[in-house]
Amino acid sequence: MPAPHAKPPARRLAIRGDLLDFTAAPEWGAVESNAVRFRPDHWLLVEAGRIVGAQPAALSEAQGPDASWERHDHHGRLVMPGFIDTHVHCPQIDVIASFGAELLDWLNTYTFPAEAHYAEPALAHSGAARFCDALLAHGTTSAVVFPTVHKASAQALFEAAQQRGMRLIAGKVLMDRHCPDNLRDDVDQAERDCEDLIARWHGRGRLAYAVTVRFAATSTPEQLAMAGRLCARHPGVYMQTHVAENRAEVRWIGELFPQARSYLDVYASAGLLNERAVLAHGIWLDDADRTVLRESGAQIAHCPSSNLFLGSGLFDWRAAEAAGAAVSLASDVGGGTSLSMLRTAADAYKIQAMAGQRLTAWKALHAATLGAALALRLEGEIGSFEPGCMADVCVWDWAVGSVAQRRLDVARALHERVFAWMTLGDERNLVACFVGGGLLFEQRSG
Ligand code: GUN
Ligand code: ZN
Repeated sequence: MPAPHAKPPARRLAIRGDLLDFTAAPEWGAVESNAVRFRPDHWLLVEAGRIVGAQPAALSEAQGPDASWERHDHHGRLVMPGFIDTHVHCPQIDVIASFGAELLDWLNTYTFPAEAHYAEPALAHSGAARFCDALLAHGTTSAVVFPTVHKASAQALFEAAQQRGMRLIAGKVLMDRHCPDNLRDDVDQAERDCEDLIARWHGRGRLAYAVTVRFAATSTPEQLAMAGRLCARHPGVYMQTHVAENRAEVRWIGELFPQARSYLDVYASAGLLNERAVLAHGIWLDDADRTVLRESGAQIAHCPSSNLFLGSGLFDWRAAEAAGAAVSLASDVGGGTSLSMLRTAADAYKIQAMAGQRLTAWKALHAATLGAALALRLEGEIGSFEPGCMADVCVWDWAVGSVAQRRLDVARALHERVFAWMTLGDERNLVACFVGGGLLFEQRSG
């Protein structure tokens, strides 16, 4: 079903600009990297919604895309694969930028009351549509998303993503304790709802189901075991949760699960760690946990703006990398303060700087594109301009405003330019966003 506001995708589409994507993982700290593929002033060629190649614009007058291609000439602009946000909460747009709390207070004071509204299917539908449109308006074309505990909220989210042709991974939130009554499910009903949603949505178009454990504190051991059984019964489904975000939370988990070696071990023991597991935060992990992550193939969704805003802590990206654990980037709205993956990447740089580490633009942007795609086992579909990938493409202004423009004018090397764009840019730089070759967002001029 096409988005209500979208033009049907052109069969043959050519987008001109400075093409930037990755062919491998950039090395830590290296501003010169063979993993970066930068093709200035090229046409990106798309047929039937998929990338088919690229060619220098200089060639195009003679042999370039002819009149059979719908041309979008963005000469002088940056063109990148759509961003992948590996951890974000659909209903929490309503609580973004809420004052003065750490995680556990923030959940009780702001988040749970807001999520309770999604019991109403009409609100869940309008919220899901607003959320998907907001992702696109920030240059995010794929996401791993928490709706609420309500089955209808997952249903609404899948429908909204399907209408827009977006790659979306989501599942009904599981929580059967330590939460308000109007957000509590139970093991049997939750299992039936998950089975029904998996049958209806998993593998349908660009959608996939994620068994969604909110966090170990809000699920009984019985519910965690049920979630593990779901993962075992449906090997292609994803699993998403939170882990080791905040020190008071970690202490609480230690009290609730005294037999577990660590917070992460609670999930490992329930059979929830695998190569399709996405764990948000992972700030307070140790080396043994990082080894478990590497061996299971599970990834950490690093959420820098959320970690700063909620005062949760400084993620040790370097240690995760050294241990061979996959790290992607995520907004975690509404703990996070923006859906913009540019702002998210800029915050990630600042967190690493606090630890004396230098996060290159390559490392950060890779984690929001090809790196996330690889960790999700979706590199054949999203995250790069490799032929065969879906044409999820964003066109960006290199600079908005006089300060960014001046910085760009004096920048010399490519990394300097891209780092300035990443640090100073945000959704106002986004000019156009294509999903599967369909133009779903265009910046209004003026
Ligand atoms: N831990 C459990 N639930 C949440 C949530 O909604 N946001 C964040 N940041 N952490 C959580
Ligand atoms: Zn979260």
